Amino acid sequence: MKMKIHSSLRTVEWKDNAVVMIDQTKLPNELVFVKYTNFNEVADAIRNLVVRGAPAIGVSGAFGLALAALQSKATTKDDLLVDLEQAKKILFETRPTAINLAWGLERIMKTARNGNTVSEIKDAVINEAKKMADEDIEINMRMGKHGSQLFHDNDTVMTHCNAGALATVAYGTALGVIRATKESGKKIKVIATETRPVMQGSRLTAFELKHDGIDVSLIPDTAVGYSMANGLVSKVIVGADRILRTGHVYNKIGTYQVALMARQHHIPFYVAAPLSTFDMKSIPKDVVIEQRKASEVTGVAGKKTAPDDINVINPAFDMTPPELITGIITEAGVAKPPFEESIKKLFESKL
Ligand code: MRU
Repeated sequence: MKMKIHSSLRTVEWKDNAVVMIDQTKLPNELVFVKYTNFNEVADAIRNLVVRGAPAIGVSGAFGLALAALQSKATTKDDLLVDLEQAKKILFETRPTAINLAWGLERIMKTARNGNTVSEIKDAVINEAKKMADEDIEINMRMGKHGSQLFHDNDTVMTHCNAGALATVAYGTALGVIRATKESGKKIKVIATETRPVMQGSRLTAFELKHDGIDVSLIPDTAVGYSMANGLVSKVIVGADRILRTGHVYNKIGTYQVALMARQHHIPFYVAAPLSTFDMKSIPKDVVIEQRKASEVTGVAGKKTAPDDINVINPAFDMTPPELITGIITEAGVAKPPFEESIKKLFESKL
């Protein structure tokens, strides 16, 4: 199907006291927008991958809380805060791994706590959520500029999952770096993995890069080793759902395999993520890896591809250890090993 996405198009936005988002479960076949006026609908949308990608769900959670504020019948600040805490809990429990969701919800709660009257708080949380959406795009563009300096003319870059415009409000993190590299005048090609089981690579990354005229080739996940061993890949770049202060990176299931394979073939492995993706408090054993339903693995596009009653293990994310990572690109600059020191410096530079 032919469709044109305008560069001003946003994955998620606030319009006339409602949250409007692209229904990503319908891509690449249909471009459908959904509109929500109830925070429970936003929670369902996050849970069911209508919106996905760490920064996009961070902003969606913030918009969800803004809807909860509008829905609240509270007449006092205290009662409104109780309603918001309840909504926050429901939104927070939708997806446990991406830290941006907790970050977005907490930023809105802080705004609410700082307000005085009910009507002042309602206006303030809507404005704060809209500000977060605008900031997301600016941050991605700054990240893109830093990252583009690491990529050279005629590089072929492998990416996994979708860390693009569709995983953020617009522009993207890993794909934002690729866009910025192209905008700087360098020729760049992309190899995108399909990213089973939910196919964010083929449905979303291949779709948005092709749409923007960026040279992209799609490979099955099983062809990562082949592509690297045959000299088809000069660098790897992926996004992240959570990064610990030690440089441990949580991202889409399969990222760890790609990083290991890159190390075997001496290919630089980069991660691009905003500072809101860093969790400076947790250690690996604290991080909950989301386990998704078996039907994502036992079928493809609604067609069964496995025997009935088969046991399934379906983790949505894995952890790539710091020793496999060449650099972490953020809006504040690029962290290089040893990460504990360089990440700390990036945060200090933001103070
Ligand atoms: O399950 P998803 O589609 O939400 O997973 C998305 C990813 O793992 C992305 O790579 C990550 O969120 C980085 S997005 C800028």
